[in-house]
Amino acid sequence: MTVQDLRATTRANDAGQERGNDELQTLWSKVVGRRSFLRQAGLAGAAVTGAGAVTAAGASAKAHRASAGPTEGDFAILRFLAAAELIESDLWEQYAGFGGVDGANDAYIAALENLDSDMPQYISDNTDDEESHAAFINAYLRSKGQREVNLDAFRTLRPSTATGGGNAKRLTNLKSLNVDTSWYLRYRATTNPDFGATFGQAVTINNQPAIPLSDTETPPGGSAPVPPTTRAQQRMQAIANTAGFHFAMIEQGGSSLYTTMALKVTSLEVLRIVVAIGGVETNHFSLWHDKAGNAVADPLAGVTDPVTGVSFPNLNNSGGEATQTNLILPEPCEFIPGLPDCSVVRPTIDSLAGAMAAVRGLTADRLFDGQSATFFKTISRLAREADAAERGL
Ligand SMILES: [Fe+2]
Ligand SMILES: [Fe+2]
Repeated sequence: MTVQDLRATTRANDAGQERGNDELQTLWSKVVGRRSFLRQAGLAGAAVTGAGAVTAAGASAKAHRASAGPTEGDFAILRFLAAAELIESDLWEQYAGFGGVDGANDAYIAALENLDSDMPQYISDNTDDEESHAAFINAYLRSKGQREVNLDAFRTLRPSTATGGGNAKRLTNLKSLNVDTSWYLRYRATTNPDFGATFGQAVTINNQPAIPLSDTETPPGGSAPVPPTTRAQQRMQAIANTAGFHFAMIEQGGSSLYTTMALKVTSLEVLRIVVAIGGVETNHFSLWHDKAGNAVADPLAGVTDPVTGVSFPNLNNSGGEATQTNLILPEPCEFIPGLPDCSVVRPTIDSLAGAMAAVRGLTADRLFDGQSATFFKTISRLAREADAAERGL
């Protein structure tokens, strides 16, 4: 891969910018619409009407919002997010079974610990978070007399037979992933996909397992020296490195999805749920961004999977700041046209980060390989309903 490929940070083309502007315009006009409502309620006049009027107007606005309750669109958003959290929980439970604090596969754990010695703890904590997100959103739906989301009928995929895979049938497939690593370049760029910017792959990871597939090729009791020397060690390290990039890919997707959904929510309580859970997805992303970088920096960089040929080069050797591994905090980028660059979550428009976009992304990841047509129908319907939600007053 050339430095130019790696950079892939060309300024947005005009057509893309127009599309992004239109969609952002629609989203923001709804936010502005709410501001108009607050102005009518007297909040905007606070500076000239005195403290008493502010309190009365504030109480009136609060009462209005409290009585309004969630809309059908809010429930549709929550139902898709519940499904997304059940999917996240299923994949994280698999990672935890192999490599969490109670993980059963010592060789996988040793390879993960080459990315960071605390990896098992982080994996277990991320898993707990996802389970809490799924359980909470479903409980909220039930508390409002709404149907909850249950994907148990789709837990049909055979688990990995390697130590740590367990016996439970799975919703998701981690055995042969196409991990989109463009987020790595996107968050180091000053351009924004919401305005048409596109990014290449930092590392090309196709048809690569992110969990051990069998104890024969990767014995569960092995060690993980740096660099790996035996074929089994190389294979296991490439699997662990893939997991490292996959963790970040999943969580940056969650960051964008929640931010995008927040712009469609009407009820203040549902907005609180979406924003508060979304912040944790971003927290996860930031952590995994740091760990993934360790797979492509000294001393671990240079691992190649002997089976698939997937390799993890040293990204500090070329590409400059566009690939520098410790630049893990988002670079300020284009955000609101005509205003300065800003360090923000991106993308945050429906076509790139809405519910259907999430389904498309996870499908391209091969996370659902082996799933039934009914599963895709179900998940797509939930996604379409969430995307159709509109912010009301
Ligand atoms: Fe989550
Ligand atoms: Fe997450």
